Amino acid sequence: MQIQVETQPYSSIATDAIVTYVFDAEPKLQGVLAEIDRAMNGRLGSLASAGEITGKALEMVLLHFPHGLAAQRLLLVGAGKPEKFALADMRKIAGSALRFLKSRGVKKFAFLAREGERGAEAARAVTEGLVLADFESDKYRSDKKSREIASVSLAGFDAGTSANLQDAIERGRVVAESQNFARDLINEPSNRLTPRMLAEKAQAMAADVGLGIEILDERRIAELKMGALLGVAQGSVEPPRVIILRYMPAKSPVGGPILGLVGKAVTFDTGGISIKPANNMEKMKYDMGGGATMLGAMRALAYLKPRVPVIAVIPSTENMPGGRAQKPGDVQTAMSGKTIEVINTDAEGRLILADGISYARQLGCTHLIDAATLTGAIEVALSNINVGAFGTPREFLDQFLASAKAVGEKMWPMPIDDEYEEMIKSNIADIRNTGSGKGGGAITAAWFLKEFAEDTPWVHLDIAATCWVDDGRPWLAKGPTGVAIRSIVDFALKL
Ligand code: BES
Ligand code: MN
Ligand code: ZN
Repeated sequence: MQIQVETQPYSSIATDAIVTYVFDAEPKLQGVLAEIDRAMNGRLGSLASAGEITGKALEMVLLHFPHGLAAQRLLLVGAGKPEKFALADMRKIAGSALRFLKSRGVKKFAFLAREGERGAEAARAVTEGLVLADFESDKYRSDKKSREIASVSLAGFDAGTSANLQDAIERGRVVAESQNFARDLINEPSNRLTPRMLAEKAQAMAADVGLGIEILDERRIAELKMGALLGVAQGSVEPPRVIILRYMPAKSPVGGPILGLVGKAVTFDTGGISIKPANNMEKMKYDMGGGATMLGAMRALAYLKPRVPVIAVIPSTENMPGGRAQKPGDVQTAMSGKTIEVINTDAEGRLILADGISYARQLGCTHLIDAATLTGAIEVALSNINVGAFGTPREFLDQFLASAKAVGEKMWPMPIDDEYEEMIKSNIADIRNTGSGKGGGAITAAWFLKEFAEDTPWVHLDIAATCWVDDGRPWLAKGPTGVAIRSIVDFALKL
């Protein structure tokens, strides 16, 4: 899909459709809408008075052969209340319009920005919305729809200079395509994406975009004494891998910060000996979502070139039951030297992240972000709306949340008081891998990770409930969302 700046006046763009948006309770049509209404001899106004155009969020009104426009269709998307309008709405409006028009066989359209939302940020949000909405999960279907949007032009934007506008579109495209790259990986079933295959895909991506990469195999992992990762991996015939990606800026000051990104990549989570019930177990192919998030973020950063070095560490394994699998009660020694009593083999994500975090610190990372489909408990706490965001010190977490806000990703700060640490004390080892069963499952999981992040500034994102959506939204296909990538990229660019 091409996305380009439109230079013609909107009324003379000969395209399949022009898309713009209408606010709820707009007293009367304003700005471009008033202009279009005049060209249509007041017909738009009549539809509004008749209640057919209300401006309610994501309401779609499609008009054919609009008078006064060279385009074949005019699509008016409801924008909701103007006082609540934000960039996130631009993303949704653009995305919903694309999916609406695509399902009607439209090949190209123009998106017309309105008064107030015409800057570079708006162009970036619209571009992101378009690219994300264009993603489909039909790779393995023989009856793939051949419908495709070939090109979208952005009209009515003004970012100061056309170079600024072009830059904004480029950044939006890179980030959203990196989200789609991650979404493709998350969709892959576990028989087509083992830890070894994930490592190969990471290698191909790194070569493509010019990132350094190193893959640790099972021998190297054993040499490094990553006992927590090995404990999880020992139940599977598929060997584990640790993927390390490196981005180095052209000149980086000695002693400056180094950002570490650690992502959980369990390519399938059966639960191990503490096996999961059959219902929904197939979803556990997306338990590598945290790892995919970091691969997507690194891909974007390779293009956008932040000033700080960034290292991603992605431990990857299957979690399987079997004759060699670890058993509840087993004690493993993590790379850091801490001993862990494995109460529940289904709490495997924190085990592999423990070693991933230790390794990132050993590599010199001064700041850490981890992302993981870590707990079902985070869905209880926040449903599938907000990512659960933990971290210390609080200022570091707040800095990250500011990035999330800026890029329109919903994240909510979760508590990590010292009192919760009690709940992961073990009788026979340094710590246990589950809480005491008195609730707070997402928090005790975060605390477990903190035992390994120690005093390194650290943010933990529990994306278990937000990395995948079961029902499609008007602006997004159902399935993987690619959540957290935009925030991480924005954060790295600002560090
Ligand atoms: N991968 C799961 C968490 C998960 C659940 C992700 C649902 C996506 C959707 C994780 O490894 C897990 O099994 N967590 C357990 C922890 C428990 C045993 C302490 C959970 O949340 O039930
Ligand atoms: Mn599990
Ligand atoms: Zn898991």
